[in-house]
Amino acid sequence: MTDFAVWSRAIQARMETALAACLPDATLAPQRLHAAMRYVTLGGGKRVRPMLAFAAGEAVNADMDRVEAAACAVELIHVYSLTHDDLPCMDDDDLRRGKPTCHVEYDEATALLVGDALQSLAFEVLAEGGGSAGMLRQLARAAGSRGMCGGQAVDLASTGQSLDLAELEFMHIHKTGALIQAAVLLGALADDALADDARHRLERYARCIGLAFQVMDDVLDAETDTATLGKTAGKDAAQGKATYLTLMSAKEARAYADELTSEALAQLEPFGARGQRLAEIARFIVERRY
Ligand code: IPE
Ligand code: IPE
Ligand code: MG
Ligand code: MG
Ligand code: MG
Repeated sequence: MTDFAVWSRAIQARMETALAACLPDATLAPQRLHAAMRYVTLGGGKRVRPMLAFAAGEAVNADMDRVEAAACAVELIHVYSLTHDDLPCMDDDDLRRGKPTCHVEYDEATALLVGDALQSLAFEVLAEGGGSAGMLRQLARAAGSRGMCGGQAVDLASTGQSLDLAELEFMHIHKTGALIQAAVLLGALADDALADDARHRLERYARCIGLAFQVMDDVLDAETDTATLGKTAGKDAAQGKATYLTLMSAKEARAYADELTSEALAQLEPFGARGQRLAEIARFIVERRY
């Protein structure tokens, strides 16, 4: 196993424990809602956003307990976004992380409430874990209408339409990029003394990899099988989604993602060895198969 594989597995294991501890126990009332929250959050997912928070925290030497709270908060918002994204009124998906989606395993109203409750829990966990006002503001903005929700609104409005490159970039930067950027920034902001130059470089790094992440998500939807993805393959074309593959070939989309990765890596130069994990995650995002 590569050093990066060992490190990423350690983060995944740490996150499983941390998330299990911050989610309400399934024996607590209302049991069905709590069981469903644990069902969607635990035991799956690549945990890329937590990895980014930890890597950014390492890059600036932040307090790792505070980073862990930030990583949990971002992952909880992400899982809420997936639960709602899969609902019949959105992408209508029945498979997520290799399991039936929340509304299939439970019911639609429960899936709606799971998302609502995970979003609230994210802010509770961040506040209790020592998150600063700046960190809370960053996460709130990334999740809202000027971030992920805004991108999701564009996604739904543009289904069956053709977007130009600038519109597509706007959609991807918001629906996926915003939370990826929040993961990086929250990890870094766990250091109260974060310098402006480091912050700006990390923002640019995150913008590039956030966009590259969704470009690759579009490519993988078309090229990978359902079993590997853990979610239904080929859904974008079947539903008439506007994606990078409606504007370019998969080869061109991969080349674009590579270009974005090079731009991201260039931002990390001043961090030296401390930026190693961030560099490895950037490469993982474009090389991943799921
Ligand atoms: C999928 O995200 C949804 C997007 C924003 C593209 P991930 O590919 O990170 O999903 P998990 O967390 O590993 O399941
Ligand atoms: C999802 O984009 C973005 C979110 C905010 C969840 P997709 O709809 O492409 O994500 P998948 O492919 O279902 O994971
Ligand atoms: Mg979607
Ligand atoms: Mg979807
Ligand atoms: Mg997708």
